[in-house]
Amino acid sequence: MSEELKQEPGFGSSLALLDALGIGPVWVRRELAVEEVQGTAATQEALAPTPAAPVESPNVSAPQPVAAEAKAAVVTHARPSPPLPVAPAPAAAPVEQEGGPPSWLDDMDFGTALEPVLIPDGDEEQDAPSVDPLIARLKTMDWPQLKQQVAGCRRCGLCQGRKNTVFGVGDEKARWLFIGEGPGRNEDQQGEPFVGPAGKLLDNMLLSMGVKRGENAYIANIVKCRPTDDNGRDRPPSAQEVAACLPYLQRQIELIQPTVLVALGKTAAISLLGMDPATPVSRLRGTVHRYQDRPLVVTYHPAYLLRTLTDKSKAWADLCLAMSTYQAQSR
Ligand code: URA
Ligand code: SF4
Repeated sequence: MSEELKQEPGFGSSLALLDALGIGPVWVRRELAVEEVQGTAATQEALAPTPAAPVESPNVSAPQPVAAEAKAAVVTHARPSPPLPVAPAPAAAPVEQEGGPPSWLDDMDFGTALEPVLIPDGDEEQDAPSVDPLIARLKTMDWPQLKQQVAGCRRCGLCQGRKNTVFGVGDEKARWLFIGEGPGRNEDQQGEPFVGPAGKLLDNMLLSMGVKRGENAYIANIVKCRPTDDNGRDRPPSAQEVAACLPYLQRQIELIQPTVLVALGKTAAISLLGMDPATPVSRLRGTVHRYQDRPLVVTYHPAYLLRTLTDKSKAWADLCLAMSTYQAQSR
Protein backbone atom coordinates (compact mmCIF):
# COMPACT_ATOMS: atom_id res chain seq x y z
CA MET A 1 0.00 0.00 0.00
CA SER A 2 1.42 3.35 -0.92
CA GLU A 3 2.73 6.01 1.38
CA GLU A 4 0.14 8.44 0.01
CA LEU A 5 -2.71 6.23 1.05
CA LYS A 6 -1.19 5.69 4.44
CA GLN A 7 -1.09 9.44 4.87
CA GLU A 8 -4.76 9.85 4.10
CA PRO A 9 -6.76 11.18 7.05
CA GLY A 10 -8.30 8.35 8.95
CA PHE A 11 -6.02 5.71 7.57
CA GLY A 12 -3.88 5.50 10.70
CA SER A 13 -6.86 5.32 12.98
CA SER A 14 -8.45 2.52 10.98
CA LEU A 15 -5.19 0.59 11.10
CA ALA A 16 -5.09 1.15 14.84
CA LEU A 17 -8.63 -0.14 15.13
CA LEU A 18 -7.90 -3.21 13.05
CA ASP A 19 -4.79 -3.81 15.14
CA ALA A 20 -6.78 -3.41 18.33
CA LEU A 21 -9.19 -5.99 17.06
CA GLY A 22 -6.31 -8.31 16.25
CA ILE A 23 -7.09 -8.06 12.57
CA GLY A 24 -4.02 -7.30 10.53
CA PRO A 25 -4.39 -5.30 7.37
CA VAL A 26 -2.80 -8.04 5.28
CA TRP A 27 -4.83 -10.04 2.84
CA VAL A 28 -3.79 -13.39 4.20
CA ARG A 29 -5.28 -15.70 6.71
CA ARG A 30 -4.57 -14.43 10.16
CA GLU A 31 -2.62 -17.50 11.14
CA LEU A 32 -0.19 -16.96 8.27
CA ALA A 33 2.87 -14.76 8.58
CA VAL A 34 2.27 -11.19 7.54
CA GLU A 35 4.35 -10.66 4.47
CA GLU A 36 4.20 -8.50 1.46
CA VAL A 37 1.40 -9.90 -0.62
CA GLN A 38 1.07 -8.81 -4.17
CA GLY A 39 -2.63 -8.36 -4.43
CA THR A 40 -3.73 -9.90 -7.65
CA ALA A 41 -7.31 -10.96 -7.53
CA ALA A 42 -6.21 -14.53 -8.07
CA THR A 43 -4.06 -14.29 -4.97
CA GLN A 44 -6.93 -12.85 -3.03
CA GLU A 45 -9.18 -15.61 -4.16
CA ALA A 46 -6.62 -18.17 -3.15
CA LEU A 47 -6.03 -16.61 0.22
CA ALA A 48 -9.56 -15.63 1.10
CA PRO A 49 -11.27 -17.76 3.69
CA THR A 50 -13.15 -20.62 2.14
CA PRO A 51 -16.63 -19.31 1.58
CA ALA A 52 -19.82 -21.05 2.47
CA ALA A 53 -22.00 -22.42 -0.28
CA PRO A 54 -23.44 -19.60 -2.37
CA VAL A 55 -26.82 -18.28 -1.41
CA GLU A 56 -28.97 -18.49 -4.49
CA SER A 57 -30.26 -15.19 -5.67
CA PRO A 58 -32.69 -15.22 -8.55
CA ASN A 59 -31.96 -11.66 -9.60
CA VAL A 60 -28.21 -11.54 -9.48
CA SER A 61 -26.21 -13.30 -12.10
CA ALA A 62 -23.51 -15.73 -11.27
CA PRO A 63 -20.15 -14.11 -10.62
CA GLN A 64 -17.54 -14.44 -13.30
CA PRO A 65 -13.92 -15.35 -12.75
CA VAL A 66 -12.34 -12.42 -10.99
CA ALA A 67 -8.74 -12.69 -12.08
CA ALA A 68 -9.19 -11.00 -15.42
CA GLU A 69 -11.67 -8.47 -14.03
CA ALA A 70 -9.32 -7.09 -11.46
CA LYS A 71 -6.96 -5.74 -14.08
CA ALA A 72 -7.84 -2.09 -14.28
CA ALA A 73 -9.12 -1.00 -17.63
CA VAL A 74 -10.99 2.15 -18.41
CA VAL A 75 -14.29 1.92 -20.18
CA THR A 76 -16.37 4.82 -21.31
CA HIS A 77 -19.97 4.09 -22.08
CA ALA A 78 -21.95 5.43 -24.95
CA ARG A 79 -24.84 6.76 -22.93
CA PRO A 80 -23.67 8.70 -19.89
CA SER A 81 -26.27 11.16 -18.76
CA PRO A 82 -25.67 13.88 -19.82
CA PRO A 83 -22.83 13.08 -22.24
CA LEU A 84 -19.60 14.85 -21.47
CA PRO A 85 -16.12 14.79 -23.00
CA VAL A 86 -14.09 11.79 -22.13
CA ALA A 87 -10.88 12.35 -20.27
CA PRO A 88 -7.86 10.14 -20.77
CA ALA A 89 -7.79 7.00 -18.75
CA PRO A 90 -6.11 7.18 -15.38
CA ALA A 91 -3.11 4.91 -15.08
CA ALA A 92 -4.37 2.84 -12.22
CA ALA A 93 -1.60 1.79 -9.93
CA PRO A 94 -1.12 -1.92 -9.42
CA VAL A 95 -3.26 -3.12 -6.60
CA GLU A 96 -0.87 -3.46 -3.73
CA GLN A 97 -2.12 -4.93 -0.57
CA GLU A 98 -0.46 -5.14 2.71
CA GLY A 99 -3.79 -5.87 4.18
CA GLY A 100 -5.47 -8.92 5.48
CA PRO A 101 -9.13 -9.40 5.02
CA PRO A 102 -10.75 -6.47 6.75
CA SER A 103 -13.05 -7.23 9.61
CA TRP A 104 -16.19 -6.64 7.58
CA LEU A 105 -15.34 -9.67 5.52
CA ASP A 106 -15.76 -11.85 8.55
CA ASP A 107 -18.73 -10.35 10.33
CA MET A 108 -21.49 -11.38 8.02
CA ASP A 109 -25.04 -11.36 9.20
CA PHE A 110 -27.64 -13.20 7.17
CA GLY A 111 -31.32 -12.82 6.78
CA THR A 112 -31.60 -9.06 7.08
CA ALA A 113 -30.55 -8.02 3.62
CA LEU A 114 -32.62 -6.03 1.21
CA GLU A 115 -33.60 -7.52 -2.09
CA PRO A 116 -30.97 -7.40 -4.83
CA VAL A 117 -31.15 -4.37 -7.02
CA LEU A 118 -32.51 -4.30 -10.55
CA ILE A 119 -34.20 -1.87 -12.84
CA PRO A 120 -36.96 -3.57 -14.82
CA ASP A 121 -36.48 -4.07 -18.52
CA GLY A 122 -38.20 -2.06 -21.16
CA ASP A 123 -38.48 1.40 -19.61
CA GLU A 124 -35.49 2.99 -21.24
CA GLU A 125 -37.38 5.14 -23.68
CA GLN A 126 -39.18 7.05 -20.97
CA ASP A 127 -36.25 9.10 -19.79
CA ALA A 128 -36.47 12.55 -18.24
CA PRO A 129 -38.39 15.07 -20.31
CA SER A 130 -36.22 16.82 -22.85
CA VAL A 131 -37.00 20.24 -21.39
CA ASP A 132 -36.79 20.10 -17.67
CA PRO A 133 -36.78 23.49 -15.96
CA LEU A 134 -35.35 22.04 -12.79
CA ILE A 135 -32.11 21.03 -14.51
CA ALA A 136 -31.15 24.63 -15.25
CA ARG A 137 -32.11 25.78 -11.76
CA LEU A 138 -30.13 23.00 -10.12
CA LYS A 139 -26.96 24.25 -11.78
CA THR A 140 -26.95 27.32 -9.58
CA MET A 141 -28.06 25.70 -6.34
CA ASP A 142 -25.83 25.55 -3.29
CA TRP A 143 -26.13 22.88 -0.61
CA PRO A 144 -28.95 24.46 1.44
CA GLN A 145 -30.99 25.19 -1.68
CA LEU A 146 -30.47 21.69 -3.01
CA LYS A 147 -31.45 20.12 0.30
CA GLN A 148 -34.56 22.23 0.45
CA GLN A 149 -35.47 21.33 -3.11
CA VAL A 150 -35.16 17.61 -2.41
CA ALA A 151 -37.05 17.85 0.87
CA GLY A 152 -40.09 19.21 -0.96
CA CYS A 153 -39.69 17.24 -4.18
CA ARG A 154 -42.69 15.70 -5.89
CA ARG A 155 -41.11 14.85 -9.21
CA CYS A 156 -42.07 11.21 -9.08
CA GLY A 157 -44.56 8.93 -7.39
CA LEU A 158 -42.14 7.92 -4.67
CA CYS A 159 -42.98 11.14 -2.85
CA GLN A 160 -46.33 9.63 -1.90
CA GLY A 161 -45.12 6.84 0.33
CA ARG A 162 -42.11 8.47 1.92
CA LYS A 163 -41.74 9.40 5.53
CA ASN A 164 -38.52 11.30 4.84
CA THR A 165 -36.45 12.12 1.84
CA VAL A 166 -32.94 10.74 2.17
CA PHE A 167 -30.67 13.38 0.75
CA GLY A 168 -27.24 11.94 1.50
CA VAL A 169 -24.73 12.28 4.27
CA GLY A 170 -21.06 12.91 4.75
CA ASP A 171 -18.21 15.24 4.05
CA GLU A 172 -19.36 17.74 1.46
CA LYS A 173 -15.76 18.05 0.28
CA ALA A 174 -15.17 14.29 0.29
CA ARG A 175 -12.90 12.71 -2.29
CA TRP A 176 -14.83 9.45 -2.06
CA LEU A 177 -18.46 9.23 -3.11
CA PHE A 178 -20.36 6.00 -2.47
CA ILE A 179 -23.63 5.64 -4.31
CA GLY A 180 -26.38 3.21 -3.39
CA GLU A 181 -29.72 2.50 -4.93
CA GLY A 182 -32.34 4.11 -2.75
CA PRO A 183 -33.54 4.26 0.83
CA GLY A 184 -35.00 1.22 2.54
CA ARG A 185 -37.33 1.15 5.51
CA ASN A 186 -34.73 2.21 8.10
CA GLU A 187 -33.41 4.98 5.91
CA ASP A 188 -36.90 6.28 5.19
CA GLN A 189 -37.59 6.43 8.90
CA GLN A 190 -34.34 8.12 9.83
CA GLY A 191 -33.74 10.26 6.74
CA GLU A 192 -30.16 9.01 6.39
CA PRO A 193 -28.70 6.57 3.85
CA PHE A 194 -27.40 3.14 4.82
CA VAL A 195 -28.41 3.03 8.46
CA GLY A 196 -29.62 -0.59 8.48
CA PRO A 197 -27.51 -3.77 8.49
CA ALA A 198 -26.19 -3.02 5.02
CA GLY A 199 -25.09 0.36 6.30
CA LYS A 200 -23.13 -1.24 9.08
CA LEU A 201 -21.28 -3.33 6.54
CA LEU A 202 -20.72 -0.27 4.36
CA ASP A 203 -19.23 1.59 7.33
CA ASN A 204 -16.82 -1.29 7.88
CA MET A 205 -15.91 -1.32 4.21
CA LEU A 206 -15.18 2.41 4.42
CA LEU A 207 -13.10 1.90 7.53
CA SER A 208 -10.99 -0.70 5.77
CA MET A 209 -10.28 1.92 3.10
CA GLY A 210 -9.24 4.50 5.66
CA VAL A 211 -12.30 6.67 5.37
CA LYS A 212 -15.40 7.23 7.44
CA ARG A 213 -18.91 8.40 6.88
CA GLY A 214 -18.44 12.13 7.26
CA GLU A 215 -14.66 12.07 6.90
CA ASN A 216 -13.52 12.16 3.29
CA ALA A 217 -16.56 10.11 2.29
CA TYR A 218 -20.02 11.07 1.17
CA ILE A 219 -22.84 8.55 0.84
CA ALA A 220 -25.81 9.11 -1.43
CA ASN A 221 -28.38 7.17 -3.37
CA ILE A 222 -29.69 7.20 -6.91
CA VAL A 223 -33.20 8.00 -5.65
CA LYS A 224 -33.95 10.00 -2.53
CA CYS A 225 -37.27 8.43 -1.59
CA ARG A 226 -37.97 4.84 -0.66
CA PRO A 227 -39.37 2.64 -3.43
CA THR A 228 -41.80 -0.04 -2.22
CA ASP A 229 -43.91 -2.65 -3.95
CA ASP A 230 -47.63 -3.24 -3.45
CA ASN A 231 -46.89 -5.19 -0.30
CA GLY A 232 -44.83 -2.42 1.22
CA ARG A 233 -41.54 -4.18 0.62
CA ASP A 234 -38.41 -2.50 -0.69
CA ARG A 235 -37.95 -2.65 -4.43
CA PRO A 236 -35.52 -1.13 -6.92
CA PRO A 237 -36.52 2.21 -8.42
CA SER A 238 -38.01 2.19 -11.91
CA ALA A 239 -36.20 3.78 -14.82
CA GLN A 240 -38.60 6.74 -14.67
CA GLU A 241 -37.97 7.25 -10.97
CA VAL A 242 -34.23 7.13 -11.60
CA ALA A 243 -34.54 9.66 -14.42
CA ALA A 244 -36.61 11.99 -12.24
CA CYS A 245 -34.19 11.88 -9.33
CA LEU A 246 -30.77 11.63 -10.95
CA PRO A 247 -30.37 15.40 -11.49
CA TYR A 248 -30.12 15.80 -7.71
CA LEU A 249 -27.25 13.35 -7.50
CA GLN A 250 -25.62 15.05 -10.45
CA ARG A 251 -25.73 18.37 -8.61
CA GLN A 252 -24.37 16.69 -5.49
CA ILE A 253 -21.45 15.41 -7.56
CA GLU A 254 -20.81 18.88 -8.98
CA LEU A 255 -20.77 20.35 -5.49
CA ILE A 256 -18.65 17.62 -3.91
CA GLN A 257 -16.25 17.11 -6.81
CA PRO A 258 -15.20 13.67 -5.62
CA THR A 259 -12.05 12.00 -6.89
CA VAL A 260 -13.53 8.51 -7.20
CA LEU A 261 -17.12 7.29 -7.33
CA VAL A 262 -18.02 3.83 -6.07
CA ALA A 263 -21.31 2.43 -7.34
CA LEU A 264 -22.79 0.02 -4.81
CA GLY A 265 -24.69 -2.59 -6.78
CA LYS A 266 -26.34 -2.89 -10.10
CA THR A 267 -28.96 -0.15 -9.92
CA ALA A 268 -26.39 2.48 -9.07
CA ALA A 269 -24.00 1.28 -11.75
CA ILE A 270 -26.40 0.97 -14.64
CA SER A 271 -28.22 4.17 -13.71
CA LEU A 272 -25.01 6.16 -13.79
CA LEU A 273 -23.50 4.45 -16.81
CA GLY A 274 -26.69 4.29 -18.83
CA MET A 275 -26.26 0.61 -19.43
CA ASP A 276 -28.58 -2.23 -20.28
CA PRO A 277 -30.35 -3.31 -17.08
CA ALA A 278 -29.60 -6.90 -18.01
CA THR A 279 -25.88 -6.31 -17.54
CA PRO A 280 -24.71 -8.36 -14.58
CA VAL A 281 -22.68 -6.66 -11.89
CA SER A 282 -19.96 -9.20 -12.52
CA ARG A 283 -19.42 -7.67 -15.93
CA LEU A 284 -19.26 -4.13 -14.55
CA ARG A 285 -16.68 -4.93 -11.90
CA GLY A 286 -12.92 -4.90 -12.38
CA THR A 287 -13.01 -1.93 -14.71
CA VAL A 288 -12.56 1.76 -14.11
CA HIS A 289 -15.55 3.38 -15.80
CA ARG A 290 -16.05 7.10 -16.25
CA TYR A 291 -19.00 9.12 -15.05
CA GLN A 292 -18.96 12.76 -16.07
CA ASP A 293 -15.23 12.71 -16.36
CA ARG A 294 -14.67 11.06 -13.00
CA PRO A 295 -13.54 7.49 -12.40
CA LEU A 296 -16.24 5.14 -11.25
CA VAL A 297 -15.68 1.68 -9.80
CA VAL A 298 -18.50 -0.80 -9.40
CA THR A 299 -18.84 -3.25 -6.57
CA TYR A 300 -21.54 -5.39 -5.05
CA HIS A 301 -24.26 -3.84 -2.94
CA PRO A 302 -23.55 -4.37 0.77
CA ALA A 303 -27.00 -5.95 1.21
CA TYR A 304 -26.08 -8.53 -1.41
CA LEU A 305 -22.74 -9.15 0.30
CA LEU A 306 -24.53 -9.76 3.57
CA ARG A 307 -26.18 -12.73 1.92
CA THR A 308 -23.42 -13.93 -0.35
CA LEU A 309 -20.21 -14.85 1.37
CA THR A 310 -18.76 -16.15 -1.86
CA ASP A 311 -18.45 -12.64 -3.24
CA LYS A 312 -16.96 -10.85 -0.28
CA SER A 313 -13.36 -11.28 -1.45
CA LYS A 314 -14.36 -9.86 -4.81
CA ALA A 315 -15.78 -6.80 -3.11
CA TRP A 316 -12.44 -6.31 -1.40
CA ALA A 317 -10.72 -6.60 -4.78
CA ASP A 318 -13.09 -3.88 -6.06
CA LEU A 319 -12.21 -1.61 -3.17
CA CYS A 320 -8.53 -2.19 -3.86
CA LEU A 321 -9.10 -1.19 -7.47
CA ALA A 322 -10.91 1.91 -6.24
CA MET A 323 -8.03 2.72 -3.90
CA SER A 324 -5.39 2.31 -6.59
CA THR A 325 -7.46 4.53 -8.88
CA TYR A 326 -7.70 7.10 -6.12
CA GLN A 327 -3.95 7.02 -5.64
CA ALA A 328 -3.34 7.42 -9.35
CA GLN A 329 -5.63 10.47 -9.36
CA SER A 330 -3.84 11.93 -6.35
CA ARG A 331 -0.41 12.01 -7.96
N1 URA B 1 -29.59 0.38 0.28
C1 URA B 1 -29.28 1.43 -0.52
O1 URA B 1 -28.99 1.24 -1.69
N2 URA B 1 -29.29 2.62 0.01
C2 URA B 1 -29.58 2.86 1.29
O2 URA B 1 -29.54 4.01 1.71
C3 URA B 1 -29.89 1.77 2.09
C4 URA B 1 -29.90 0.53 1.58
FE1 SF4 C 1 -38.27 13.63 -5.93
FE2 SF4 C 1 -36.36 11.81 -6.11
FE3 SF4 C 1 -38.23 11.61 -4.22
FE4 SF4 C 1 -38.87 11.15 -6.76
S1 SF4 C 1 -37.44 9.96 -5.51
S2 SF4 C 1 -40.02 12.40 -5.29
S3 SF4 C 1 -37.55 12.63 -7.81
S4 SF4 C 1 -36.69 13.24 -4.41
